[in-house]
Amino acid sequence: MIDLDFLFNPGQIAIVGASKSPQKIGYAIVDNIVKSGYRGEIYPINPKEEEIAGHKAYPSVAEINKPVDLAVISVPVKHTIQVAEECGKAGVKGLIVITAGFKEVGREGLKLEQELISICRRYGMRMLGPNCVGIMDTHTPVNASFANGFPNKGNISLISQSGAMLVSILDWSFEMGMGFSRFISTGNKADLTEIDLIESCAADPNTDVILCYIEDITDGERFVEVCSEASKKKPIVILKSGISSAGAQAASSHTGALAGSNRAYEAAFRQSGVLRAETLNELFDLARAFSSQPLPDQSRVAVVTNAGGPGILATDAIEKYDLKMARFNKNTIDKLRGNLPQEANIYNPVDIIGDARDDRYRFALQTVLEDDNVDGAVVILCPAAVTEPEKTAHTIVELNKKYSDKPVMAVYIGGRVLAEGKNYLSENKVPSFTFPEPSISSLEGMVRYSGFIKEKEPVQPVELEDINRETVRKTIDQVLEDRRVVLLGHETSTVMSAYGIPVSKTYLATTEEEACEIGSKLGYPVALKISSPRIAHKTDVGGVAIGLHSDKEVKRAYRQIMDSVGYYLPDAPIYGIEVQDMVDEGVEVIVGMSRDVQFGPLVVFGLGGIYVNLLEDVSFRLASALDNYEEVKEMITETKAYTLLQGYRGKKAADIDALADSILRTARLVRDFDEITEMDINPVRVHTKGSTALDVKITIEEKEK
Ligand code: ACO
Repeated sequence: MIDLDFLFNPGQIAIVGASKSPQKIGYAIVDNIVKSGYRGEIYPINPKEEEIAGHKAYPSVAEINKPVDLAVISVPVKHTIQVAEECGKAGVKGLIVITAGFKEVGREGLKLEQELISICRRYGMRMLGPNCVGIMDTHTPVNASFANGFPNKGNISLISQSGAMLVSILDWSFEMGMGFSRFISTGNKADLTEIDLIESCAADPNTDVILCYIEDITDGERFVEVCSEASKKKPIVILKSGISSAGAQAASSHTGALAGSNRAYEAAFRQSGVLRAETLNELFDLARAFSSQPLPDQSRVAVVTNAGGPGILATDAIEKYDLKMARFNKNTIDKLRGNLPQEANIYNPVDIIGDARDDRYRFALQTVLEDDNVDGAVVILCPAAVTEPEKTAHTIVELNKKYSDKPVMAVYIGGRVLAEGKNYLSENKVPSFTFPEPSISSLEGMVRYSGFIKEKEPVQPVELEDINRETVRKTIDQVLEDRRVVLLGHETSTVMSAYGIPVSKTYLATTEEEACEIGSKLGYPVALKISSPRIAHKTDVGGVAIGLHSDKEVKRAYRQIMDSVGYYLPDAPIYGIEVQDMVDEGVEVIVGMSRDVQFGPLVVFGLGGIYVNLLEDVSFRLASALDNYEEVKEMITETKAYTLLQGYRGKKAADIDALADSILRTARLVRDFDEITEMDINPVRVHTKGSTALDVKITIEEKEK
């Protein structure tokens, strides 16, 4: 882990470009550092000034002649290279480069940014930015930024790729009454990236929750590695913007078209235990929940409400987010029945009805929190004339402290009349919401995270002893030598077999007679398929004939296929016709892979056939996660195809173990061979015993060895 003490706890800060003019950024930075209560040395650098903000000013970093941990650079872009060089020579440990005008403005800027990086490498300096707002740490404390204000002290770290987003969130946080430990603006991430900062925040004793706003991740593999460890220590919630389907549109395979970078991010976040927020609101709801409430043990939620409608909304949301309505034990039900009015609903949601005052809330909430079948509670309050929102807020806070192992969320539905109560709840660390759904979605995030960090039996990766890498290597090399990028049917069949993936037997025939010979050897019936690197959709050009029972039928089909393909695609190179055995019935699923630029091979599983892209009944995993059957099976169960495989409407169950084995082996194949860029096995036919890859498409590209 990189030591980022120079950034968050610097002993000395030089501000290059410090200014006495209040409208300048160089003024704001010095002002922020001073006002944050920073206790180290401050060295303003400005050739024209003797002193700035009561601190002696120096004409350059070189003239300080004392150690400097951090230099904040806020001079015009044309001076930054020279200033960075001076900092390096003076032994400065690290830089924050505020200045804009680098990579984000084009080629010239990129060149300057690369120069900055090489200066940092040369002198062993680390750099945040360029094009950033800076950092804040409320505990050390230091505010080395030009943001407008300093956050309230708290236990949340925010890492933002967008400076504008960071300053807006800062302003908003005051209104929300939220406290932060760190605010970090990563800017262009020329050196330090969100990965380094997540790692540092995970080790920061003052941070309990890590929030990120990111637009991209450039080192997917390291992201997964670092976040998998960091998220075991504290929750990481990421809002990822810029979800692009460009990659998906360009893809030629079913899998490629389904994948797209968003799926890869999903899979990577999931694998790393990172929670993804879809909106800013969700990001902060989760932050409030995690930073103030205990993690629930399981997902059983109790709802206490003074109004029926919102109680139903909460129940709906609990079902939508896959949580459970707690089923109270007998003692709880007896107590509720004995003490609540007759009109009340004593089962979950507990409706203490419209005339409930604080005492009724106290009784109901305490009773459900005492129940062992309850893991967390949502308290809903609507403002009737007799309701006591403030008093009830005190009660909720008190009971939340008393039952400190169960999270409580308050839903105060209303505005003006409830403001005081809501404030009290926020100030006392009970998340309050205006509507039920976000409170439940926050609880769901907590339940998911709680499941992720629970001690699990370590899963051993499956050793595959029976794979034959040599054969695959030879096949790929041969195809590349032929200057092709798509494997032919008999070649994919060889590749599958080499990795122990059961595949329909396929051989290439170049004459009618040869086709008959193969047919007899395989045993009739057989199928014939045109073999051409240019023809992806064989049926469309009359290139397929199935269920052929004799030499005579094979000969006739052979001629028909050749005639038809010749008619539709007279210029397509034809290698011959593939003869394939006919495969038993079964559930048809797809297994495939597309390679993501950031995260590498991404494996898909789902309902197969020609409607794959329409139905999108699919689940994704990074191939790196699919080295054990547990993960593969979980992937299978996430789809509707799983219901079919289990035996739908009286059908016999399909061999899910055999399918899982094929998925595991596919993941291994694409991990072993970088050359494979896309792959579709559509369909894999899953029989009652065993499975067969029926139609396999593999696309490759040359890699530097
Ligand atoms: N060494 C020391 N001091 C210097 C040097 C130097 N080499 N060169 C200039 N200075 C002094 C200047 O004399 C000036 O001081 P003065 O006010 O006493 O005259 C001060 O440093 C600043 O220099 P200016 O030329 O006045 O530059 P200015 O402050 O106008 O702009 C800045 C510099 C802010 C870095 C600008 O170039 C810039 O990049 N602005 C954009 C910043 C930004 O948006 N960053 C991304 C944030 S992310 C977001 O989206 C919010």
